[in-house]
Amino acid sequence: MSKPNQTLGEFIIENQSDFAYSSGELSRLINSIRLAAKVVNHEVNKAGLVDIVGAYGETNIQGEDQQKLDVYANNKFIQTLTNREIVCGIASEENDDFIRIEGHKGDHQNKYVVLIDPLDGSSNIDVNVSVGTIFSIYRRVTPIGTPVELEDFLQPGNNQVAAGYIIYGTSTMLVYTTGHGTNGFTLNPALGSWYLSHPDMKFPESGTIYSINEGNYVHFPQGVKDYIKYCQEEKDDRPYTSRYIGSMVSDIHRNMIKGGIFMYPKSSKANNGKLRLLYECNPMAFIVEQAGGKASDGFQRILNIKPTELHQRIPFFCGSKKMVEKAEEFMRVSE
Ligand code: AHG
Ligand code: MN
Ligand code: MN
Ligand code: MN
Repeated sequence: MSKPNQTLGEFIIENQSDFAYSSGELSRLINSIRLAAKVVNHEVNKAGLVDIVGAYGETNIQGEDQQKLDVYANNKFIQTLTNREIVCGIASEENDDFIRIEGHKGDHQNKYVVLIDPLDGSSNIDVNVSVGTIFSIYRRVTPIGTPVELEDFLQPGNNQVAAGYIIYGTSTMLVYTTGHGTNGFTLNPALGSWYLSHPDMKFPESGTIYSINEGNYVHFPQGVKDYIKYCQEEKDDRPYTSRYIGSMVSDIHRNMIKGGIFMYPKSSKANNGKLRLLYECNPMAFIVEQAGGKASDGFQRILNIKPTELHQRIPFFCGSKKMVEKAEEFMRVSE
């Protein structure tokens, strides 16, 4: 039950029993994420004032030029999560390999792994456009008391116990799910508290926005080209409006409120598209499904896919249920 002016802290305590394994650990984990998010938010807000914009000077495992804030956010989240006795492992977009956390006593008693995209849309930092953070949480599958292994991270999205994103936008929001609906909290920067502003978010069943990088049009599969033409046709409620920020978190957040579809398909340049299954698509799929939306790779449900690699990429179609179904129809016909 949501109450007016309820803080995130109050909400977590009240909904403790929603967590799959309710021992307070997952609540503490979310608490540490909201704390790191506030610190990163503060830093993102200073971009332009201090020397934190621009390239860091290194390339990550994705082959992307890391931005200074990519590195800052990565360090901040890892530091905050490591300091609590809850997390046994972290995998990040910015790290080649997963990190093992043995715990202060060195006995590997912690139960949860976190996968994180510390800064999503980082190419937008220098131009003052909103960016985000995405996180995904699983309970480990290897025995407690042993070091965490790769298989703890390579679980299908269905096994997520919680997932969320933070959007550093005109206001800063934290949106998350534990599998009992999706709730959004807005940060009051004066007080440093998150307030429940978007209780039980509902993805409109259909919408009139399509979001895709159309610059890649000639490289898209025929099904995607045909679907784009369908979106542009003069019929019924079409043509749809095209909106593409280039920060997936912001694009999907907008579509979740207004109704729309976000697509990052494969192309003749990138066989699996660009987005990463484990720390981008799975958490967004969980959040979106919990709000009544749909997420697919064009043919199958994202959350059913068994990952094979930490940095695995996957085509992504995500948004209003009816729109994703229609895009899938086009994909099937052209196969
Ligand atoms: P990240 O900044 O975490 O590397 O993710 C960038 C992603 C995603 O946010 C966005 O939707 C997409 O890249 C944009 O890619 P294009 O510039 O190829 O459209
Ligand atoms: Mn990146
Ligand atoms: Mn990203
Ligand atoms: Mn990123």
